[in-house]
Amino acid sequence: MLAPPHSQGADKGTLEVFSWWTSGGEAAALDALFNAYQKRNPGVEIINAAVAGGAGSAARPVLQARLAGGKPPDTWQTHPGWELLGQYVEPGYCEAITELYKRAGWDRVFPKELVASLLTKDREIYAVLAGIHRGNVLWYNTKLLEKNGIKVGDQMTFNMLFAFCDKLKAAGISALGVGDSGIWASAQLFENTLLGVIGPEGWTDLFNGTTQWDDPMVKEAMKLFAKMQDYVNPDHSALSWDQAIKALIQGKVAFCSMGDWAYGEFVKAKMKAKEDFGWLSSPYTDGSFIVIADGFTLAKGAAHKEAALAWLKTVGSKEAQEAFNPLKGSIPARTDVDRSKFDAYQQWSMDSFAEDKLVASCVHGEAAPAAFQQALNDAVANFVVDRNVDNFAKALVKAAKESRSRK
Ligand code: GAL
Repeated sequence: MLAPPHSQGADKGTLEVFSWWTSGGEAAALDALFNAYQKRNPGVEIINAAVAGGAGSAARPVLQARLAGGKPPDTWQTHPGWELLGQYVEPGYCEAITELYKRAGWDRVFPKELVASLLTKDREIYAVLAGIHRGNVLWYNTKLLEKNGIKVGDQMTFNMLFAFCDKLKAAGISALGVGDSGIWASAQLFENTLLGVIGPEGWTDLFNGTTQWDDPMVKEAMKLFAKMQDYVNPDHSALSWDQAIKALIQGKVAFCSMGDWAYGEFVKAKMKAKEDFGWLSSPYTDGSFIVIADGFTLAKGAAHKEAALAWLKTVGSKEAQEAFNPLKGSIPARTDVDRSKFDAYQQWSMDSFAEDKLVASCVHGEAAPAAFQQALNDAVANFVVDRNVDNFAKALVKAAKESRSRK
């Protein structure tokens, strides 16, 4: 049962946490955060208000309705950048937590640049990051590839990927696993493909308006994305993202281009890294890291403000980040964690984060306003059916223009 809103201070025994972490790996990781919280705050009852649906596709509209209706959860999951600052801070739904950063000494342990560019507005900080996912990862089922005489090295080109896809197709196997019952998963495959073609500098130019969405390079990425559709599992639109990962685990599909929350599913399924599954950067994206970070906010008018502040303190703590991220697949946002507590995949991702060019994800609400993110999803939904590059490009040019004029 939900506690009544605006009963601030009346009840310190409850905390409502809103997220969309409900897949096997996500729920296990969220539980690790809950456990860390309850260890520090015994007796506080946590209301898990998670709404199922990858990337928050179903959760975010529910959240918007609650915020607009003045019934906020005490704290909610958010991506930094446009999603946090545009959708939640700008309309006044969040309370600043700058003081908490100062008190906890977090200015020394969280990446300064990230906090300043994606979590801060008018010098106030509005969220604490639990972890940082890498979006541009290509996962594969090692044994299935071996069985089909395919050996994957450290890097992948589009030509190599298509050659492998042809081989698998000839053997009757869907090479590319997609679960786009939430269309964002296909949008993610496009986002990863786009980065492979335009590179990190091209990415910056595209999202700051220097390059247009009908640029020949962007269209090239659209063509590659169209070609990929020939190798996608026929039941893709009936599957969720984690069901597509399950298909990879079961050897029904060979590759998945998906953010590293997929790793949480491999952990949950007790798959052995390298032996059972492997990973590499999605084609031509070595040297770049698509940042998809998860943070938590403090609601303005939180019904349980003290409990919520204690939650944020836990989320930002070293113990919680070391417990949560190995299950979630993300790397801790804190830079002072013990590396040895993390598996080979996450050490790979940590190195990439430290050395590579960081770019913000559009599919996960960081790089562009919500209206553009939605327009991209809609355009992708049309494109996977009609594969019309000109229409795809036109829709995005229009959406970019509209979102610029609204700024
Ligand atoms: C992302 C989120 C991740 C993961 C994924 C799939 O938007 O940042 O934590 O949950 O969606 O649901």
